[in-house]
This record gives sequence, structure tokens and C-alpha cells, in this order.
Amino acid sequence: MWKQRILDFAKNLNHPAWGFSHLQRVHDMALRLAKEENTPIDEEVIFAASYLHDVGALEPYKKVGVEHAVRSAEFCEEVLKPMGFPEEKVASTKDVILGHMFYVSPELKEEVIIFRDADILDYLGYIGIARMLAMVKHDDWTPDMASAIKLIKSFSTELPQELYTSSAKTIGHERALEMEMFLMGLSTETNLLEML
Ligand SMILES: [Fe+2]
Ligand SMILES: [Fe+2]
Repeated sequence: MWKQRILDFAKNLNHPAWGFSHLQRVHDMALRLAKEENTPIDEEVIFAASYLHDVGALEPYKKVGVEHAVRSAEFCEEVLKPMGFPEEKVASTKDVILGHMFYVSPELKEEVIIFRDADILDYLGYIGIARMLAMVKHDDWTPDMASAIKLIKSFSTELPQELYTSSAKTIGHERALEMEMFLMGLSTETNLLEML
């Protein structure tokens, strides 16, 4: 069954921020948002996109100079058909993957918007904080703790504005508050972040 084949592949994707658990969370959040929004989505497309959308950011699949969403879309074209995934749904899956970057404006297609919101929400709240801290020294974004905290701060204010659906906006607002609380507490305990 193609779903099991995708899961078997995705389970081996290890990364503190873009590994298997991120993919599971994005999948579950996309389904939740679709339900709350009463938006019809193709759950098979969302499933495939969830577990393959960040593969292009990971070794050994990433390609130098190729944006990770572009590489992930290319990769899914290569692997989905041999896995038995419905051929007629590959194009929609690629659209969802290409549209997931938070700095890309999604086309007005339900799955793209829902999926993009789900991926953005994983950068927010307690889970967003945990992911950014787990990335310290793993990524150019976060060479040290101070840079991770800076990123958390900017995500907490900028990313909620990027959300499209009202359900995601509600969750994003709560998660931004969680981040604000964390940043305030951290600031108090580290002499205004001087002793991080
Ligand atoms: Fe991504
Ligand atoms: Fe992602």
C-alpha cells in the first residue's frame, strides 16, 4: 500500500526541525484545519505532501542551489508513482509542496492554503520554540542560542500575519502568546538576554 511505503520512507528522515515528527504534526494539523474550516481537501494529496514536503532540505536528497520545496516536488515526482500513489494526483501534490513556503503567496487552491497554514503553525508556540532551539548549531539560521532566540522573536510577530484561514489565525494567535511569555521569562532570567 502506497501510504505505508511513504511512511516507511519518511520514518528515516532525521532532523531536529524537519524530521518525521514535524511531518506528522503538519499532516495532523492540515486535517484539523480542513475540518474546522469545512474545506474539502484531498486527504491522499495532503498525506503525500505532508511526508515529502521537506525532503529536499535533507541529506542526501537536497541539491545545492535548489530551493528545498522545488527539490521536494521534483523528488515526489520521481518516487510517488513507483510507490503506487494515484498518478492523477501527483500534480496536485507537487502544487501543495511548492506552495508551502511561508514567503510564497499560495494560489487560491484549498489544499495549498490549508497545508501552508499547517506548516507555518509548526514554527509557532511551544513546538516552534522547541524546534528552533533544537536547531542550534545544526543550521546556518541558528549558529548559537542567541540567534535561535532572535528567530523565535521574529517568528512570533511575523508568521501569524502570514496565515490565511481563520482557524489557523486563532491557533497562531495563541501560539504567538506562548512565545511572548517564553521570551519575557527568558529575558528576566538572563539579564535581558545578556547571559544566555
Ligand atoms: Fe519546508
Ligand atoms: Fe515543513
